[in-house]
Amino acid sequence: MIVGAGGSDRAEVRILGIETSCDDTAAAVVANGTRVLSSVVSTQTDLHTRYGGVVPEVASRAHVELLTPVVSQAMLEAGMVDGRTVDAVAATVGPGLIGSLLVGVSAAKALALVWDVPFVAVNHLEAHLYAAFLEEPDLELPLVVLLVSGGHTMLVLMEGHGRYRLIGQTVDDAAGEAFDKVARFLDLGYPGGPVIDRLAMEGDPHAIAFPRPMRNDGYDFSFSGLKTSVVNHVRKHPEVTTADVAASFQEAVCDVLVTKARRAARHFGAKGLALAGGVAANSQLRERLLDACVSDGLHGFLPSRAMCTDNAAMIASAGWYRLQADGPSPLDTGASPNLPLAVLPR
Ligand code: KG4
Ligand code: ZN
Repeated sequence: MIVGAGGSDRAEVRILGIETSCDDTAAAVVANGTRVLSSVVSTQTDLHTRYGGVVPEVASRAHVELLTPVVSQAMLEAGMVDGRTVDAVAATVGPGLIGSLLVGVSAAKALALVWDVPFVAVNHLEAHLYAAFLEEPDLELPLVVLLVSGGHTMLVLMEGHGRYRLIGQTVDDAAGEAFDKVARFLDLGYPGGPVIDRLAMEGDPHAIAFPRPMRNDGYDFSFSGLKTSVVNHVRKHPEVTTADVAASFQEAVCDVLVTKARRAARHFGAKGLALAGGVAANSQLRERLLDACVSDGLHGFLPSRAMCTDNAAMIASAGWYRLQADGPSPLDTGASPNLPLAVLPR
């Protein structure tokens, strides 16, 4: 039994997680890394839509305004009357926008100090990996995780808790960034992923044969050329329907992602294949990945859509594993905008 630093002697360790790395202000309470007692996300999408992307200064100011009510709501929904029932406070320290990160990190440290409980620094990328364990704690290892978000595209071999090998990553744009840039070019608004996902359902995925960059070449990815192909094709063929462009672009992205993830799972002898990150909410990607897992006899795991995009439950969950492995983080731990995922040597 772990006795909370706040003096509680419950068998459960309840962690308040805080996430402010980009444009979502989120707080959640998770017990023992797996039981979600509350998860509150306040998205700032409306504030940024008019600019066609996240404006860092606007994001940090909004976090300042939203964080206190979001934390209060998460505590209330978890049935926690005050901080004495919290055993630790975990916050994303990176990677992300520096101004946004600082809001969450400073608040988490202040709460940890006032409540006299440990502060736990969490890597946002590691937290995305833990989203899968939150919903399926018995996932078998080794596991290949395809982490696809607005800022990252990575294939990670998870050998154990905290033991990751980087199999491949994007050499230019992230998959989510490609969705957002193509959507902006097509005047579909921000964020682009969900709009393209919806519009693609009305289009023909085979209408345009967009290139499959680096599909049969190693485990790295490249999406910036694909975005340029979309721009060139639409300029040359203005009569093409937006739905066909969306469906064909999405098909090309999913084809490359699933082909490589599947090959990696086979090559590294993984028992399963999991999706993580905002792009993991994509309908076509989910369907294709599950089909591939069924054919290859792999355990396919898709987190719920709410767990794919940024949330604080995954931060509290990763924080719990970090607390078990490394203990509390020093209070002088800073925010790190470019924090990499700590991986084992190849
Ligand atoms: O993980 P996330 O919420 O934030 C980052 O850490 O980046 O990911 C956001 C990204 C955005 O690029 C967004 O367009 C993309 O995830 N996204 C999607 C879908 N929902 C969100 N991309 C494709 N299809 C979706 N349904
Ligand atoms: Zn994220």
